[in-house]
Amino acid sequence: MNTAPPTSCAGWSQLETLARAGADTHLRDRFARDPARGERLRFEGAGVRLDLSLQRLDDAVLAALQRLASERGLEAWREALFAGERINSTENRAAWHTALRAGARAPAEVGATIDRACAIATGLRAGTWRGASGQPIDRIINLGTGGSDLGPRLACHALGPVPSQGLGIRFASNVDPEDLGRALADSVPARTLFVIASKTFSTQETMANARAARRWLEEAHPAGTDVSGHFIAVTENIASAARFGVADALPVWDWVGGRYSVWSAVGLTLACAIGETGFREFLAGAREMDEHFLRAAPERNLPILLALTGIWNTNFLGCATHAVLPYSNRLGLLPAYLQQLEMESNGKRVDRAGREVGYATAPVVWGAEGTVGQHSFHQLLHQGTQIVPADFIVVREGPGDPEMRRILAAHASAQARALAFGLDDAALPAWRRHPGNRPSNRLELDVLDARNLGRLLALYEHKVFVQGVIWNVNSFDQWGVELGKSLAAGILSRPQGI
Ligand code: F6P
Repeated sequence: MNTAPPTSCAGWSQLETLARAGADTHLRDRFARDPARGERLRFEGAGVRLDLSLQRLDDAVLAALQRLASERGLEAWREALFAGERINSTENRAAWHTALRAGARAPAEVGATIDRACAIATGLRAGTWRGASGQPIDRIINLGTGGSDLGPRLACHALGPVPSQGLGIRFASNVDPEDLGRALADSVPARTLFVIASKTFSTQETMANARAARRWLEEAHPAGTDVSGHFIAVTENIASAARFGVADALPVWDWVGGRYSVWSAVGLTLACAIGETGFREFLAGAREMDEHFLRAAPERNLPILLALTGIWNTNFLGCATHAVLPYSNRLGLLPAYLQQLEMESNGKRVDRAGREVGYATAPVVWGAEGTVGQHSFHQLLHQGTQIVPADFIVVREGPGDPEMRRILAAHASAQARALAFGLDDAALPAWRRHPGNRPSNRLELDVLDARNLGRLLALYEHKVFVQGVIWNVNSFDQWGVELGKSLAAGILSRPQGI
């Protein structure tokens, strides 16, 4: 497996030369010289369309990026990922989230666990699950943080019924008691079930929330009532979950990274929100993107193209941040989800050999749903001193007033065009001109359903993987979060207090 620094690759030097030669060529000029780029730089895979024509690149840059990927041994790394090899070297683990959605080819234990999660979800949706006082459950509160919260929360928001029918779904992640307080506020203890999603079952915030939930249940039931029937755990640490007291514990395995875990039983809350069929569709969509990533030629391979475009912007055009702009209210939590996926995975300053990298790795990922962000931070995107590449994520069809949907779609296109082409009118004062030449991707889905959401999230997972391969970093550990945890523990143990 190639672990040589990317800067030693011929493709890297070639890209530096290309950046010096033409990176400033304005997108207006690129289109004027090559009107066909609008068509040529559009790609489609597993139901997702990707338009790269508003990126500051051309065929020569794409070819050099592909060369870099191949020099970095992308194919071998991809094989290792799908084969479940221990590519998370600092933790000596696989990163085998693709096995979670492999359908009939999934390991037996995975299939059995998904079946169990679906059966629990079906029982809860049918009202056959009973709490300590024998009443049916009508409220599920997911207690978890990071990957044990963001994925299910995003997917429930994207796909869940509005208004929530039958089962009401809530999430509490922060250890700030007001987060759980808000989730409990309109919940009835006898009819509430908590899903404690924690791979380790030791994350302080989640466990504090779980203990507070238990107190809330106990206070509402006669003294001595066993309230463990109101908890289901999803964890690798089944023994700790049993000690806590739960009705059931669904396993996750050491090869499931937190930010890659929504496909596992961590998706239980999602299965409760959308039902077994929807959850299996979600997995099937991800599987389709896996197949595309494995089989499509690199030149038409969406995750590879998305990753390489990001490498070009970060390492050769010097862009330090990346905006995620879903033009979809239901995808409003996507920026937060991608922050963990991208920044926890590739926010690394040493490479796989422990050497300091001499190049940028993950950009700061941020964003908000369009059109809302247009009326706040888009000013900087259009006229600020920093170039912020953006992903415009557009859903073609959806429920609700078609005229409002038309307005939404028009704004997404208008923003991307304004960023790319600007407004160069000498008659205008400087503060009204737009420099343009600000790159963006357009990702398009026909509809936002479970299958397409699965495809979209898997696309981003593989983008992150490819970038980690190019940057020669381990995308699957997160040692940077540990110091703060232990310092907090030390502070908490001080007798004099904080
Ligand atoms: O602290 C970071 C982290 O380990 C994430 O990687 C993970 O998704 C989150 O905490 C939650 O961890 P757990 O599922 O073990 O509670």
